[in-house]
Amino acid sequence: MGLPDSPLGSTNPRVIVALDFANPMHALGLADRLDPRHCALKVGKEMFVVAGPEPVRWMVARGFRVFLDLKFHDIPHTVAQACAAATRLGVWMLNVHAAGGSAMMDAAREAVDRTAAECGRPAPLLIAVTVLTSLADADIRELHISGDAAGHSLHLARLSAASRLDGVVCSAVEAPALRASLPVGFKLVTPGIRPAGSTADDQARIITPERAIANGADYLVVGRPITQASDPVAALARINASIGEAA
Ligand code: C5P
Repeated sequence: MGLPDSPLGSTNPRVIVALDFANPMHALGLADRLDPRHCALKVGKEMFVVAGPEPVRWMVARGFRVFLDLKFHDIPHTVAQACAAATRLGVWMLNVHAAGGSAMMDAAREAVDRTAAECGRPAPLLIAVTVLTSLADADIRELHISGDAAGHSLHLARLSAASRLDGVVCSAVEAPALRASLPVGFKLVTPGIRPAGSTADDQARIITPERAIANGADYLVVGRPITQASDPVAALARINASIGEAA
């Protein structure tokens, strides 16, 4: 899945634009204005349920790295089949819930690696969701999970690494603590990013792009600061410039 190697852009852009649109045509309209050297794209449940895999195929064909954010969580066989199908689509990154357990994550890893080899392409990054950031400590207690959200998140991140997953989704606020206790090269994918001066929207813990990178984030998931900007291309360029990426 080679991206063009150009002095005008990165072959490994750090920003992942979250295409959270009810109407897939709006998502594709924005994607059409973006450059795959400057960002990856995230497709989530809403668009996938409405439009299926076609928009993903279109983005992959345009040279975009696509993060398929469907957070699989089911019995190992079902998750493995879903991960194999996502790999066949040519996505660059996909995710599962670590709460599905080691057997489920092992099955996902095996399916992704085997399918990528069959397709003759590099395996996509397989990452885990640990504790949903919408869950507070009281919700964790309600689920009869011992410890607090941060401790449980670290436990699930370690379990993900033991199952040879490539990384986790986490808050960049937590990134330094996670970085310290996870293998070198384990990817930290961080939402909740807000450039200085922008609104928090419904995000509880926000952090600037610069701070997130300084904290050890590998990839920044950015939605509304780009998708709702009057000039999304310029908003992305400003974020890329702020983290030293080609804009
Ligand atoms: O618009 P905003 O930048 O807040 O979008 C962040 C994106 O990251 C959304 O697609 C949201 O669903 C996703 N996300 C998140 N927090 C998590 C996991 C995913 O905000 N813990």
